[in-house]
Amino acid sequence: MTNREDMTLTSSGFYVSQEAPIRTDNPVPTPQASPPDVLRCAYMDLVVTDLAASRVFYVDVLGLYVTEEDDEAIYLRSTEEFIHHNLVLRKGPVAAVAAFSYRVRTPEDLDKAVAFYSELGCDVRRNPEGFTKGIGDSVRVVDPLGFPYEFFHQTDHVERMSWRYDLHIPGELVRLDHFNQVTPDVPRAVRYMQDLGFRVTEDIQDEEGTVYAAWMRRKPTVHDTAMTGGDGPRMHHVCFATHEKHNILAICDKLGALRRSDAIERGPGRHGVSNAFYLYLRDPDGHRVEVYTQDYYTGDPDNPVITWDVHDNQRRDWWGNPVVPSWYTDASLVLDLDGNPQPVLARTDSSEMAVTIGADGFSYTRSGEEQMPEWKQGEYKLGHQL
Ligand SMILES: [Fe+2]
Repeated sequence: MTNREDMTLTSSGFYVSQEAPIRTDNPVPTPQASPPDVLRCAYMDLVVTDLAASRVFYVDVLGLYVTEEDDEAIYLRSTEEFIHHNLVLRKGPVAAVAAFSYRVRTPEDLDKAVAFYSELGCDVRRNPEGFTKGIGDSVRVVDPLGFPYEFFHQTDHVERMSWRYDLHIPGELVRLDHFNQVTPDVPRAVRYMQDLGFRVTEDIQDEEGTVYAAWMRRKPTVHDTAMTGGDGPRMHHVCFATHEKHNILAICDKLGALRRSDAIERGPGRHGVSNAFYLYLRDPDGHRVEVYTQDYYTGDPDNPVITWDVHDNQRRDWWGNPVVPSWYTDASLVLDLDGNPQPVLARTDSSEMAVTIGADGFSYTRSGEEQMPEWKQGEYKLGHQL
C-alpha cells in the first residue's frame, strides 16, 4: 500500500506516513455520485439462535440497557447512547450479521447512499419506515465487498443513562466503538471505504507491501470499522467501549465468578494498534465481542497514518502476549438482504497467522537485533500452551 521509504520509523517501533495512496490491482470503481456523509458506526443487527441465552450474556452479564424487546428481538444500548439502540439481537435460524448500520448527517444523505450504491450495481433497498424498531427512513445495501451495510438518519431518542450511577455496574459498557470485518482483499476494501469517505488511521503490512489489516474512521477515534484480511465477507467483532481499564478487568472477574471464563477468548491486554486496552469475548453463538478503552484522537486532517510490521510481536498485543489461533480463523457469517448467508471467498494473499505463528512464522520484539528466546519464537506454539 505504501513504500517503507515513504514512512518514518518512530521510537515506538512502528512507522508513520501521511494518508497513503492505495495500490490495488482490483479496485472497486469510484462512483461519480458523492458518498453519504457518515457520522459514525451506530448499531449492529445481529441474528442469534437462542434469544434467551443471548439476553443473559448481553443484559445480565455485560449490562447493556434494554430499550425495547419482544419475542423476536431485543434492542440494546450502551450507557451514553441517546439513539434507540446500538445492538439488535434478532432470533433466527443461522447466527449471522444482518446489518452493519451507520448514522448519516442528514436525511438527504440517504438519497446519496442510494445513488452511490446504485452506480456500483449493488442490491439497494430503501424502507421509509426503517428496517428495525426505533429507526426511520433507511437504506440497506449489499456493498461491493459483500457486506450488508445500512445508512439512516432518523431515530427515536431515548434517555442517556450516564447520570444513573445507581444502575451502573463495575464493567459498564458506555459506547459502541467500532465494527471489524473480515475480507480477502484488504487494499481493495480500503480503497472502496476511502471512496465512501473513510480515513485510514493504522494498518499492518509486510516489507513487500502485503496488507493484513487496516483501521478506518469517520468519527475522530482510531476507527468505526476495520478490515481484517481473511476468508470473507465475515464479521470479526463488534466492539463496545468502557471508560477505564479497570472496567474491563471487572468484566473478567465477573465472568470468572459466574463460571463463564470460557467466554473469554483473548486478553485482557494492551493493543499495539490503536493503543487501546482490550478484551475479546465470544457470545453464546460464537459472535465475537470486544471491550475496549482509551484509544486516541484522530480528527485532524493531517493525522499521521501508523503502519505496523506484520512481524512486530507487539502490534496485536503491546505486551507481546500471543494471539490465539481462533482469533485469526473464526468469524461470523453475514447475510444478504433476503436473509441468506453470503458465500465466503478465500483469502489468496498470505495470512497473518501463517506468517507470524507456528513453525513457518516469525516475529520480533527488537527489530534487527537478537532473536527472541526459543520459547517465544513463533508467537504462539500450537501444542505448547499451558
Ligand atoms: Fe476491535
